[in-house]
Amino acid sequence: MGEITTITIVPMTSEYIPSIARIEAECFSTPWSEQALWEELSVPAAVFITALIDGKVAGYMGMHHLGNIGYVCNIAVSSEFRGRGVASTLIGSQIDYARTHGLSEISLEVRSSNTPAQALYEKFGFVRLGTRPNFYNSPKEDAEIYSLFLDRQDGGNHNDN
Ligand SMILES: CC(C)(COP(=O)(O)OP(=O)(O)OC[C@H]1O[C@@H](n2cnc3c(N)ncnc32)[C@H](O)[C@@H]1OP(=O)(O)O)[C@@H](O)C(=O)NCCC(=O)NCCS
Repeated sequence: MGEITTITIVPMTSEYIPSIARIEAECFSTPWSEQALWEELSVPAAVFITALIDGKVAGYMGMHHLGNIGYVCNIAVSSEFRGRGVASTLIGSQIDYARTHGLSEISLEVRSSNTPAQALYEKFGFVRLGTRPNFYNSPKEDAEIYSLFLDRQDGGNHNDN
């Protein structure tokens, strides 16, 4: 009752990978393996972050920074920590990264049936650009393509007038 959740965002390091792989397996039919997550540690474009609550891994979000676009690889929150703003904190952190690094856009795909995730993205200003038919397997499903377009501001201090 009246519990305040403190969510801490840290880079994904090797110590968190087993927990992240468990969350992947919990959330997705074709989860990223520990090995696949390990490989991201040496990918220069990778911006992978972990959300901690009381030292426990609550969720994570991976993005690739290529050119001036951020491509979201995945976002997942363990079911025991959902509905407490973990995904919002993860996205907010990646948007901060994007602004700090001058990215013009963050792009992602999401299953057409995944309305909770779509609501999350729309809340942060992502717009649906269209549908990629049969993008996913297990089960086969269309992807909705979303982008967040970032204006050219200097840390949000820009004045339009
Ligand atoms: C989608 C997911 C990441 C949301 O994580 P979360 O930490 O529970 O999300 P938050 O608490 O930050 O919620 C933020 C917003 O997301 C949306 N949302 C989250 N859960 C929702 C649900 N069950 N139904 C509808 N909207 C939902 C809402 O817009 C919510 O804002 P609100 O609280 O003001 O209504 C989480 O449910 C998850 O990991 N799902 C499985 C993996 C997945 O689908 N990942 C996306 C792949 S593209």
